[in-house]
Amino acid sequence: MRLLAIETSCDETAAAVMHGAQLLANTIATQEIHQLYGGVVPELASRAHVQRLVPIVQHALSQAQLSLTDIDAVAVTYGPGLIGSLLVGVSFAKALALQLDVPLLGVNHMEGHLFSTNLKPAGPEPPFLSLIISGGHTILTHVREWGKYEILGQTQDDAAGEAFDKVAKILGLAYPGGPAVEKLAATGNPRAIEFPQARLKKTPGSPGQRFAFSFSGLKTAVLYYARKLSAAELEKQKADIAASFQFALINALVENVALAHAQFHTRAIALAGGVACNKTLCQAFMELSEQRGFQLHFPEPIFCTDNAAMIARAAQFHLANGKRSPLTLAPDPGLVLA
Ligand code: KG4
Ligand code: ZN
Repeated sequence: MRLLAIETSCDETAAAVMHGAQLLANTIATQEIHQLYGGVVPELASRAHVQRLVPIVQHALSQAQLSLTDIDAVAVTYGPGLIGSLLVGVSFAKALALQLDVPLLGVNHMEGHLFSTNLKPAGPEPPFLSLIISGGHTILTHVREWGKYEILGQTQDDAAGEAFDKVAKILGLAYPGGPAVEKLAATGNPRAIEFPQARLKKTPGSPGQRFAFSFSGLKTAVLYYARKLSAAELEKQKADIAASFQFALINALVENVALAHAQFHTRAIALAGGVACNKTLCQAFMELSEQRGFQLHFPEPIFCTDNAAMIARAAQFHLANGKRSPLTLAPDPGLVLA
């Protein structure tokens, strides 16, 4: 089956073509306009998707050396995400499926991230734990089977990537902040400043929050620390602030995942989402994997951040199991993993 997948849930316009296990094309247009505003402006994102989606799909098809009529199914992210952005992708995919008279499948963006470690052979097989760390989400999931997910913990406030982006803003760095903070942190001392790490009460009785995360306290601590400094002092300490913030955030993630692993003892743990591009973070999880004896999986950076290849991979699984979406498919901005 030659599958065309479309992803427009936030600020990346992306299309991918898959044929069996082979990824024939993976194209992404990052919307740079948001850098001017220090964050994603939803209406600008929708408008940019409208302009870019057709050329991106054409580019994916030409990369795959296929034409539209070779496509056997269309998959599209239908949530969670920004409503305007989702509407563009979903409407486009429906029109295409109708015109080509091929099956349509709506894919959960978070499930796409879960599948992102399985775009190459030897990805993790269930049961395993997956930590999705992105700009909008921080979710620890027990993947019992593909298609059967138990959320073990989510952030109670800011997502990990959001914390990176906000700290970048405090330090005067460009959006998206994660890569900029990581680069600056490499020149700083992670133990220079002791920023607080949220210690949340573990609530075994509350499903979905047994291993909750919180990053707004850490972000606020960075803000208060930076505010007390003169412009010259801030400039001098910037790298140490970035390194110390990154150290505290990574420790919080590692500690929580270690606690979950002590309970579930899975053979594998996967990292996914934009923050999983962070090399210091991957190194910390590699150390944990050696201590606790699990296999660590993380996608290549291009598959960590939002992309349509992961949507194609998730769709492939569901299409093979006979799942289809009706042409009345509507975006669901608040869709959860289930
Ligand atoms: O998965 P993603 O592309 O989009 C969402 O679904 O949110 O993740 C984007 C997030 C941004 O917050 C960005 O700052 C962060 O991932 N990010 C990083 C790095 N690269 C991207 N955070 C830390 N270190 C990085 N190297
Ligand atoms: Zn994402």
